[in-house]
This record gives sequence, structure tokens and C-alpha cells, in this order.
Amino acid sequence: MLQKLAEIKSKAIDELSNLSDLKELEAWRVRYLGKKSELTQILRGVASLPLEQRKAVGASANELKATLERHYRENKDTLKERAFQDVEAAAKVVKDVSLPGRPIPLGRLHPTTQMVREICDIFVALGFQVVEGPEVEWDYYNFEALNIPPDHPARDMFATFWIETESGQRPMLLRTHTSPMQIRVMERTRPPVRVVVPGKVYRYEATDATHESMFYQIEGLAVDEHITFSDLKGTLYNFARRLFGEERQVRFRCDYFPFVEPGVEMAIDCMVCGGSGCRLCSGTGWIEILGAGMVHPDVLRRVDYDPEVYTGFAFGLGLERIPMLRYGIDDIRLFYSNDLRFLSQF
Ligand code: PHE
Repeated sequence: MLQKLAEIKSKAIDELSNLSDLKELEAWRVRYLGKKSELTQILRGVASLPLEQRKAVGASANELKATLERHYRENKDTLKERAFQDVEAAAKVVKDVSLPGRPIPLGRLHPTTQMVREICDIFVALGFQVVEGPEVEWDYYNFEALNIPPDHPARDMFATFWIETESGQRPMLLRTHTSPMQIRVMERTRPPVRVVVPGKVYRYEATDATHESMFYQIEGLAVDEHITFSDLKGTLYNFARRLFGEERQVRFRCDYFPFVEPGVEMAIDCMVCGGSGCRLCSGTGWIEILGAGMVHPDVLRRVDYDPEVYTGFAFGLGLERIPMLRYGIDDIRLFYSNDLRFLSQF
């Protein structure tokens, strides 16, 4: 019996050195340590051996079992390590150096972002700073402080998304224009003020080719001593020529916004027909691009600016209209429907 155990041991250890992977090692384990292996049979039979053999056979069978189990564990570790190295090495092999590389799709800035940057750059060159403000706004900044109290008819100009608030809390909304930032900027600075404010605004309106419920505006505000309507005209004329070309003409006509006095709308001569009338300008020769005016004295008083000392002008323009005019885009909804066929053209 002891002889038999010695044979099993040398055979098992012999075979170990020929194993090349984990699957073969598993088969080896079943063969020498499994339930049906010779060793297991011998161990089971130890109890029925004559007393004088029992001790010696039992001891060396158990010792062999422990030895084989140790060999099994050690071989398992090395084979695992080798399998891992094989996979790594395979991955490093360059199979075909002439294969073309995989193209990396290049991203780009959204046309709106490009426009915001282009317009802000023009005003930065004219001495303005760029600031941003909250899209969720208090009624106070969006309306009240801009001379639009709760029952004022001018509220009808702005179809508003209201935010649900606790009863007793001040009314809150999605800003309908960037003008609330006029107040926020003046509240925390003293003149001179020269800022432009790009950002999203919201209107509770049905969408169509010229209306979106979310779009961008750029607000402008300049307040200082001795600022006059000529400054407003000069600044916006300069802006229009930088953006639309040196030969541009501008037209100012009276308009009404409760927070400016006087208020105007500015138009440029149509860049397609040059003023003779075409489809783009619907036959008028002019294209309206922004609203503006001299900051209302009541607005100045509200932020503790003395209207006897300080005057200023403000303007606001819808951003998407400009690339629409420039590139002949006929539907504003294209900007925000995430269609790469549209976006990748800019
Ligand atoms: N906030 C106005 C609008 O959205 C535009 C405007 C801004 C007019 C500043 C005058 C001065 O219609």
C-alpha cells in the first residue's frame, strides 16, 4: 500500500510539469484528488486495514494528499499568471501597420455659442464687460423694477412661465428677457457701468418657424455721467457695421418699453436687396434687429442712482435672428433640435 502511494506521488508530480493550461490542471486535480481517485479510495479504506498497517498508511496517505493539494495551488497561480501575460502579449502585436487609423469625430461650437462670442467680442472691443445672470428670476427683477407692476398691460408682451412657489413667497418665473440683469448689475456696482449680458430667456408661446419657447438674448447697458442718445446711436451703429458689414445703414424708430424713455427699435438696411425690397425684408427694405432706449429715471432711482447726475442707454437683441438672417436659416427650431445635419454646417 505504501508502495502504491509512492507510485501515485511520482506519477502525479511527473505529469504536473507537462501541464500547459488551467483546463489541464483541473483534469489533473480530478484525476489525483477527485472523489474517484486512487488516493481518495485508499483514504476511505484506511479504517478497515489491519491495525499494524492503519497508522502508517493513514499518515502517508494524508501527507500525500496535502502535498498534492499544495502543488495544485502553486501550479494554479503560475498558470493563471501565464494566461494573463499571453492575452497582454497578443494585444501588443501589431497586425497590419498599413491599416488606416480610426477617424476621431471632431466636435465644434454650437452656432448660437459662436454668435454669442462674436457679438460679445464686438462689445468688449467697445469697452463693455460680459456678465451672466440667473434664468430663474424673481418677478421683481423681471418686471417690477423695470416699471412693470403686477397689473401693467406691458406684461402681455411677455408670455411668462411661472414657477410654483409656497404661498406667501415672492413670485418667481423663468426670465422672459435679459433686462432683469440691468437691475442686478446696477444694484451691486456704481457708475460707470458698461456691460453686455448674453443668456437664455423663456416665453410661454406656441413654437413655429420664428418662435421658440427658449431662445437667447444679449442685453446691453451703459450708465455714466453725460451719456446721451447720440452715444446709443453711435454705439449701435458701430456694432451693426462690425457685424453686418461696413456699408450697413441703420434706422431708429420710436418704440415702447416701460423701462426706457425714449424707446426705439433699430433696423438695418436689408443686406440682400440693399433697401429696394425683397422677400427677406418682406418688401420694406429694412430688417428690425433690436430694441433700445435711454434708461428710465425711475429705474435709476430704484437702484439709488441719481438721475440728475447719471444717464444711460440699454438695448436688447434676439440672438438667433442674426445667424438666421446671415445664413438664410428659415426655421428657429433647427437650432435646438440636436440635428447634426444642421449643426455641422456651422
Ligand atoms: N427686453 C426687451 C425685450 O425683450 C428689449 C429691450 C432691452 C428694450 C433693453 C429696450 C432696452 O423685448
